[in-house]
Order: sequence, then C-alpha cells, then structure tokens
Amino acid sequence: MGLLPCSDGVDTVVMKTSRDLCEAKGGGKKKQEKQQALLTPYQLGPFHLAHRIVHAPITRCRAPGGVPQPETAVYYAQRSTNQGLLISEATHVMPAISEYPNTPGIFTPEQVEGWKAVVKAVHEKGALFFCQIWHSGRMSQSESVDLNLVEKFRIAAHNAISAGFDGVEIHGAHGHLIGHDVLRDRNDMGIHTRAEHNQCREAMDILQAVAEEIGGERVGFRISPFSSYIEDQNCDQAELGLRMAKAVNECNILYASYIENRGPFISGFLQTRQSLEAFRKAFKGTFIAAGGYTREVGNSAIESGRADLIAFGRLFLCNPDLPKRFELDAPLNKYDRGSFYTSDRVIGYIDYPTLEELEELESPFKK
Ligand SMILES: Cc1cc2nc3c(=O)[nH]c(=O)nc-3n(C[C@H](O)[C@H](O)[C@H](O)COP(=O)(O)O)c2cc1C
Repeated sequence: MGLLPCSDGVDTVVMKTSRDLCEAKGGGKKKQEKQQALLTPYQLGPFHLAHRIVHAPITRCRAPGGVPQPETAVYYAQRSTNQGLLISEATHVMPAISEYPNTPGIFTPEQVEGWKAVVKAVHEKGALFFCQIWHSGRMSQSESVDLNLVEKFRIAAHNAISAGFDGVEIHGAHGHLIGHDVLRDRNDMGIHTRAEHNQCREAMDILQAVAEEIGGERVGFRISPFSSYIEDQNCDQAELGLRMAKAVNECNILYASYIENRGPFISGFLQTRQSLEAFRKAFKGTFIAAGGYTREVGNSAIESGRADLIAFGRLFLCNPDLPKRFELDAPLNKYDRGSFYTSDRVIGYIDYPTLEELEELESPFKK
C-alpha cells in the first residue's frame, strides 16, 4: 500500500506505483523569497530552535509490551531536523488499561532502554525530543483515583531524562489527567465547587512535582479546552482551560500546548482561527498551538503572534520531511487513517516517502 500526496486533507488509501506516489516531482514551487514565519528561529527557554514546526504527540500503537522498537527510532529520526522539536507519542507513567493497544510506557527499565535508542537516533539528527507522559485518566476503565499518581509522573519524568529526553510534556488533553480530575471532582463534591476552589489541583500537583524533579525549563503541558472526546460534558472545558493557563504560570514551566476548537474546518483543516487567543494571553510562557493547522494558517498564526510554535499531527505523520516541504511549498503526502493505530511496523508508519525519495522513484536514471 502506498500513500498519495495531496493538499486537501481528505483521507484516501491508494495502491502503490511510483506514479501514484508523487506528483511532487521537481519539489513544488521554488524557494520562497521571504522567510516564512514557521521557518524562523525561536528560543525555547534553554533550547534553540531553528524553526517553529513541531512534531505533535501522535499515538501509533507500535510498542508491543509498552517497549519502543527499532522502527520507532526510524519513525522519529525520519521526522528530525537540526534544532527542530519533536514531542513523542503519549507514554504511560504506570501500567494502564487503554483503548489503544501497544502504547509505550516509561516506567520499567526495559521501556527506558527502548526509549534510549529512539532518543539517540533523534539527537543524532540534531533535533530536540520531549516525551509526552500520560495517565489515561478518564479513558482508563477504572474510576478509582491512584493516590500515587503525582509520584508516578515524577518518576516517569526522571526516567525520561535518564533515557536522554530533553524534557517532558504532561498530557492533560483529551480528558486525560484534567478530565480525570474533574471526574473525581464531580463524584466528590460537584465539579464547579471543586474546580473553582482547587483549580485542577491534581494536575497542578503533578506539574509542580515534575518541575521540581527535572526543572521547569524542561516541562511542557498540553490541554484541549474544546475537546469533546472523553471529557466530562458537564464541565466547561474552555473555562477550565483558561483557569489552567493562569494557574500553570505559577509553576514556571517551559510551554503550554493548546489544541484548537474543531469548529470551522474545511477538509479537516482550519481556515481561520481565533479560538486560542484567550489562553495565549493568559499563559506567560511559550505557547504552542495545534489542531488542523496548514502551512498558510500556521505562518499567519506565528506572524500575528497568536502562537510561538505550531504542532502538526497528521501532516507530520505522513510527511517525514514536513519542514522541507513547507519551505518549498511542495505538495504533501496524504495520510492513511486506516493505518494510524495498526500494529504493522512499516506500513503507514515508516514508509511515507520524502520528496527526495519520490524524486528518485520518478527519475529516469534510477537503477
Ligand atoms: C493518530 C493520532 C494520534 C494522536 N495521539 C495523540 C497523543 O498521543 N497525544 C496527544 O496529546 N494528542 C494526540 N493526537 C492529537 C494530535 O497531537 C493533534 O493535536 C491533532 O492531530 C490535531 O492536529 P493536526 O490537525 O495537525 O493533526 C493524535 C492525533 C492523531 C491523528
């Protein structure tokens, strides 16, 4: 199976031929005259970034037994650029029941060893790598609260640094962690009372513990204030997200990563965006925006100051050389949704071609 380049964001699976694979021969338009905002450098705390195109955390279900495999190293290395930033897929801080099978962890020595090889491959390309650490929260089938959750996150962050990661991102999006907290709030004393008074206390405790363990300049936080995925529908997610943005300032962490409202999308990608402005204003550190961004909308968000960095999920998943393609305004590979979460270690994982590979396929001089 091959994957056809496209620019309209519509999911299609296409059978492989070299002709199918690319209409990008020649690499698209010539280099832009003016430097695009996405390609300008950025100082992320202690880390110098050469561009603002971030690999978003993307679960791929290719870690049997929770251990990252050699192909995982290939996947991330393919997407690494010198001084580019990658965030790993959600990585468990403790054994968990998850809807997604074969998701990695970072709580056993074997898992840490597995990650070491992945981090090494990323660092060899000169990129920076943060591990997204995760407790499946509302997705976990148990509603019981693990009193040691804060400790589990602290240890996971410690392990991530031992594995060589440059930092960690606490996964508070899609109902994980924050939603879990709210769920407990509702059971205990009513979400509004609890949330107003304690301002997402569990999430804050975790952030503080992790920041103390590895340094706030190595810690990011992710939240999805508009998500209707597994969040508590009785809770005003946007209000919660705003409260978190303000509260998180106390921890002096490196960045907050906010996911857009999935509102006025056209073919899966947003055409305009205003929805994150309130959070951007409330949070004092680096602001990463994600969710339906294209090259054009990403550039405009950076230019207008609506975000410092843009995380790309699906486009990075299927375009290992996304920064290069943005630079050239080249056509993009199309993603195959059917292989997002399958266990095949190659197909839909590390077989998305780069522009260079596509050109080679098309070359009349190829061997
Ligand atoms: C296959 C897939 C897996 C994802 N896994 C995660 C994850 O592990 N952690 C997370 O915070 N978000 C996850 N997301 C959300 C993405 O990080 C991103 O916010 C979302 O895809 C919207 O960005 P995009 O329009 O650029 O794809 C996932 C998305 C996709 C498509």
